[in-house]
Amino acid sequence: MNESREANGGTIGVIERYRERLPVTEATPLVSLSEGSTPLIYSPRLSAIVARGSRVYLKHEGLNPTGSFKDRGMTVAVSKAAESGANLVVCASTGNTSASAAAYAARAGIRCAVLLPSGKIAMGKLAQAFIYGAVVIALDGNFDQCLKLVRELSNEPGISVVNSINPYRLEGQKTAAFEIIDALGDAPHLHLLPVGNAGNTTAYWRGYVEYHRLNQTTRLPRMLGFEAVGAAPIYFDRIFENPETAASAIRIGNPASWNLANAAFKASGGAIEVITDEEIFAAQSWLASKEGLFVEPASAVSVAALLRCDSQTAHPSFPAPQIPDDAVIVCTLTGHGLKDTAAVLNDRLKPTFSAPDKAAILSLLERAK
Ligand code: F0G
Repeated sequence: MNESREANGGTIGVIERYRERLPVTEATPLVSLSEGSTPLIYSPRLSAIVARGSRVYLKHEGLNPTGSFKDRGMTVAVSKAAESGANLVVCASTGNTSASAAAYAARAGIRCAVLLPSGKIAMGKLAQAFIYGAVVIALDGNFDQCLKLVRELSNEPGISVVNSINPYRLEGQKTAAFEIIDALGDAPHLHLLPVGNAGNTTAYWRGYVEYHRLNQTTRLPRMLGFEAVGAAPIYFDRIFENPETAASAIRIGNPASWNLANAAFKASGGAIEVITDEEIFAAQSWLASKEGLFVEPASAVSVAALLRCDSQTAHPSFPAPQIPDDAVIVCTLTGHGLKDTAAVLNDRLKPTFSAPDKAAILSLLERAK
């Protein structure tokens, strides 16, 4: 199905915004949900914590149509799948890729099948895959095993794999870097983001380098990536057979873009670090209660790193020594908090019960001060 939003009106998506920088032609059907153009939100409190003249911005990718950054890559991957005549798109996922693939496949009128590690997907993401009409296949295994199977399926006729091993995904995702440069007028000094399958790190770096070559920026950022400590193959330089973290989106032990992301860290003068689950949940709560931004646990990872600059919890190695004075810093918030409400409700927070009268509520508010 070929639809032109330019002709029909409505907000343009990333293909229309950055068409000349993407591998599409007039013959490529446009499969778009008006993704991208997400807000870059200044964070006064994080800037104050990092201090020394820094300005911290949060790129809120949870505000994409399916609630994560995956939509940027998926619009390109599914448009190209439609162009090639594919009749089934397939992916392995920790949740967000499957939600996005299912939505864009629905939009394109192509069938979608998603391979998920059984019992390990946040409920919001699972609900998305179902409601968008995907065939949801749960495997008794982890994400890495799902991805291995998807690779095996990739040579079957009519099947298009839309994991980030599909080069069109990374091409679409690089547009987030373009948007940041377009908004700030230059690249940031530092870019922080969570690392799972390592595609997004690779894509941002590609976008920054591309705009730098076009003289749209005076500098390139240092890329700082963060893995959860229990799922940290790149940091420890070994495959994790049984990755474990409560941040289910980044529970990955053998990332597909391992080498590409490592090249990005090296070329940019950046680094990869690890964050504990306790820090992740503390950062998630902090971001919601101090800045009004509700993100899923994996998305809080880069904020957790910056919170280490707080003198109360100062961390000897990272990232404070790597932050220059007057730094412009961007953290990507990769996914919306509503995708994984269990991460908040199950273990941590309970409502305060009250008798249904005004006096009871006032006294309760007094005690809660
Ligand atoms: N944050 C969120 C919310 C994610 O869903 C993912 C990856 C990442 C960060 C890590 O990004 O893989 O490019 O390094 N989610 C994939 C999925 C694996 O299946 O949804 P990455």
